[in-house]
Amino acid sequence: MYKIQSHIDPDNPEFRDNASAYEAIIERHRDMMHRVMAGGSPASVKKHRDRNKLLPRERIDLLIDPGTPFLELSTLAAYGQHHDSFPGAGIVTGIGVIHGRETIIIANDATVKGGTYIRETIRKHIRAQEIAMQNRLPCVYMVDSGGVFLPDQAEVFPDRDDFGRIFYNQARLSAAGCPQIAMVMGSCTAGGAYIPAMSDETIIVKNQGTIFIGGPPLVKAATGEEVSPEALGGADVHTTQSGVADHFAENDQHAISICRSIFETLQPGKKQQLEIKSAEEPAYDPGELTGIVQADSRKHTNPYEIIARLTDGSRFHEFKARYATTLVTGFARIMGYPVGIIANNGVLFAESSLKGTHFIQMCCFRKIPILFLQNITGFMVGKKYENAGLARDGAKLVHAVANASVPKITVITGGSYGAGNYAMAGRAFDPRFLFMWPGARISVMGGEQAANVLAQVKADQLEASGKKAVPEEIEQMKNAILAKYKKEGAASYSSSRLWDDGIIEPMQTRETVAMAIATSLNMPFDEPFSGIYRM
Ligand code: COA
Repeated sequence: MYKIQSHIDPDNPEFRDNASAYEAIIERHRDMMHRVMAGGSPASVKKHRDRNKLLPRERIDLLIDPGTPFLELSTLAAYGQHHDSFPGAGIVTGIGVIHGRETIIIANDATVKGGTYIRETIRKHIRAQEIAMQNRLPCVYMVDSGGVFLPDQAEVFPDRDDFGRIFYNQARLSAAGCPQIAMVMGSCTAGGAYIPAMSDETIIVKNQGTIFIGGPPLVKAATGEEVSPEALGGADVHTTQSGVADHFAENDQHAISICRSIFETLQPGKKQQLEIKSAEEPAYDPGELTGIVQADSRKHTNPYEIIARLTDGSRFHEFKARYATTLVTGFARIMGYPVGIIANNGVLFAESSLKGTHFIQMCCFRKIPILFLQNITGFMVGKKYENAGLARDGAKLVHAVANASVPKITVITGGSYGAGNYAMAGRAFDPRFLFMWPGARISVMGGEQAANVLAQVKADQLEASGKKAVPEEIEQMKNAILAKYKKEGAASYSSSRLWDDGIIEPMQTRETVAMAIATSLNMPFDEPFSGIYRM
C-alpha cells in the first residue's frame, strides 16, 4: 500500500475559512447533543436521583468494561419534533463491550415523560434490535418505562414495526442465539412487561422495579381490587412467587453487577476471521478534516484528502486509479482492520458504476468489509449517457451494493442525493451502520434543482393551457421549495427521523468505523452471491 500524498496547505486562507465555517457547524451539532443528553427537565432529573436511581448513561457506564467506548446511536432521535419534549426520544441505545463482547444496550430514560414510547422511541429501539440481529449481538434492556405514550397510540401501537415488534424481535433474537437480558430498574407496565418476560434472564431492583400487565389504577378500575405497585408486581413478588424475574437486586449498581456476572457465563459465538493488525495513526492530521470537507456541500471535496486522514499510515492501495476517476476505490486499514473503500469524487457515470461493481465483487470474494464515503449528487444526466445505457450500468452497481455479502458501513460526508444514495449504500441498501457528518445533507435532489424542476413543470403546464407564467409567482414557488429542502436536507432532520444511526464528527470517524467493523465480525460473512446483471 502507498501513502497518499496530501496537497492541502493548512495556511491557505480558503482552507482556513472553510475550517472555521465547518467548525461552526460542529459547534452547533455539539450544542444540540449537549441539550439532548441532559435528558428530561431538571425537576424530573432531580426526582429520578432522589429515588436513588442512576441516569441511563450512568447505568451504561457502569455496565460496560472499564475504559472501553460506548458507540451511542441516534442520539438526536425526535430532535425538533413533538415540541422538543422527548430528548433522544426518551431512550439511549448503542453498542458497548461487556466482558469482551460487543452488546446492544437499550436503556429507557425515565426522566423523559416517564420513559414512554413515541414513534421515534420505537424506531430507535427496533433499529437497535435490528443491529443486534444483523451482527448477532446479545441485548441488554435497562427497563424504566411507562410503556406506550398513550396520546400517540395510533402512531405506536397497530402497525408491523410498532410496539409489538419489540417483543417479536426478542423471540427471534433469542432463537438466533443472541442472549436477551433485562434489568428492571423502574416501571415496566402493560405491553412493556413483556420485555423482561421475553428475556432469557431478568434482574429486578428492590423497591424500584415493577412488572405488571395492568397497573394499580387499571386493576382498581377493572375489578375494584386495591393493591400497591410493590404487592402487584415488585421485585420480591416476581423473584419469589411469580417467577417472572430471576434475580433480585438491592439497587441499580447491584443489578448491573449481576448482569455483568451473567455475561461471564455466556459462551463466545462463531466469529468472522479477519487479519487484524495493530492500529496506526494516519500520517496526516485528522484534525485537518474540517478544512477539507466543504462546509458548503455544493462545493467539491477531494476524497483522497479524507481517506488520507482516516486510514492507518494514510496508506491506500488504489484500484483503477486512472479509470473512471469520479469513483475512488481501494483497500486500506482503519485501526488495524482491513477495509475496502468506495468514495465519490464527482457524479457517477456508466464506467464508474462498472468500476464500483468490480471492486465490490473483489471485496466479497476477499471477505473484506466495505466503507462507503458518500458525497454524491447522482448519476450523470443527458442524451449521450442515457442512450449509451447509463441506467443499465448503474443498475449493476445497485445490484452489487444490495447483494454484497460483506458488511457495508456508510458515512455520508457531504451530499446524498437521488439514485447516488442507492448506489452508495444508502439506508434502503441495508448497510450495517450509516452515519452522517454534521454538515452532510440528504434529499432526493438538491433544493435548487428541485425548485428549478418544479418551476419548469409549472411553466410547461401553463403554456399547455395557453396561459403565461407570472415570474413573481414562479419565484415565490421556488423560494418555498428551497426553504423546505434546506430544512429537510439537514443531518439533524435525518437523525431525528432515524434515517441514519447518528451524526458523528469527522474526527470520530476512524474509531466509529473500527468499532462498526469489530461489531460486524460477530456474524460470519456469507459466501459471495449475486443476482442477474443486465449486460
Ligand atoms: N402515556 C403518556 N404520558 C405518560 C404515560 C403514558 N403511558 N406515563 C407517564 N406519562 C407522563 C406523565 O403524564 C408525566 O408527564 P409530565 O411530565 O408532562 O407531567 C410524565 O410522563 C412523568 O410521569 P410521572 O407519573 O410524573 O412520573 P413517575 O416517575 O412518578 O411515574 C410512571 C412514571 C411511568 C411509573 C407512571 O407515570 C405511570 O404509571 N404511568 C402509566 C403507565 C401505563 O399505564 N402505561 C400503559 C401503557 S400501554
